[in-house]
Amino acid sequence: MRPRREWRLPTRRLGRRVLLFDSVDSTNTVAARLAADPANDGVAVLAGEQTAGRGRFGRSWQCTPGAGVLLSLLLLPPAPLRRPPVLTAWAAVSICETVREVAGLEPRIKWPNDVLVSGRKVCGILIEQGRGTVVGIGLNVNQRAEDFAEAGLEQAASIAFFTGRSLDCRQTARRLIERLDEEYDRLLADPGDLEARWRRGIGLTGQPVRVERADGTHQGWLRELTWETVVLQDREGSVLHFAPESVFHLTPAG
Ligand code: BTN
Repeated sequence: MRPRREWRLPTRRLGRRVLLFDSVDSTNTVAARLAADPANDGVAVLAGEQTAGRGRFGRSWQCTPGAGVLLSLLLLPPAPLRRPPVLTAWAAVSICETVREVAGLEPRIKWPNDVLVSGRKVCGILIEQGRGTVVGIGLNVNQRAEDFAEAGLEQAASIAFFTGRSLDCRQTARRLIERLDEEYDRLLADPGDLEARWRRGIGLTGQPVRVERADGTHQGWLRELTWETVVLQDREGSVLHFAPESVFHLTPAG
């Protein structure tokens, strides 16, 4: 399938080629097909519509045609950056910065891969790894509340829902790709800085939380949060260490 257009952004690594499609099955699928050629490292795929958009856990990702950013980036990262918690953090921080910049909103990161505004999901991230790593981002830009209600997605919202004005999806996507590129460079140079901004974006350190894992739900105070470990102190004072990959949900204990 051939893209309708192609951008060549003056970025460092990501988005030096952006393939723009009107409609695809899934931008993640299109990006994954490019992984056979190492020259495609950093290529971005952008679509106005997806007919089979994917979310996590086999769910579908629904977006009113033309109302959101449907973006996938193909990466062939060095080994230390291949871990999904690191890549999700990088994408989530970049999305928060972009939403702040283009709309003046204050997004938060919801573990592990959602971006929320006022508790409602405006963006999801889906990392898929095969021959390369594909980072898929679905950002809700101009959908109306009715669009989400019709799709049974009452917990979701768009940027326009909060600001009362619509944004140009292509321009928003372009800003997001540029930001992802800048933050990718920072991630390579100073991962600790990005990790600290991700931790602030989650904002639960020191607070009572619930940790959901395959072995059950654990409650306690979140003592430490890094890409290596989630440290919880339970009511009895025991300190528990969990690998981030093993934590499905980390939420405030209400
Ligand atoms: C989630 O919250 O479950 C993750 C959703 C990720 C959706 C994006 S939209 C662009 C890319 N292509 C897909 O098929 N999925 C991701």
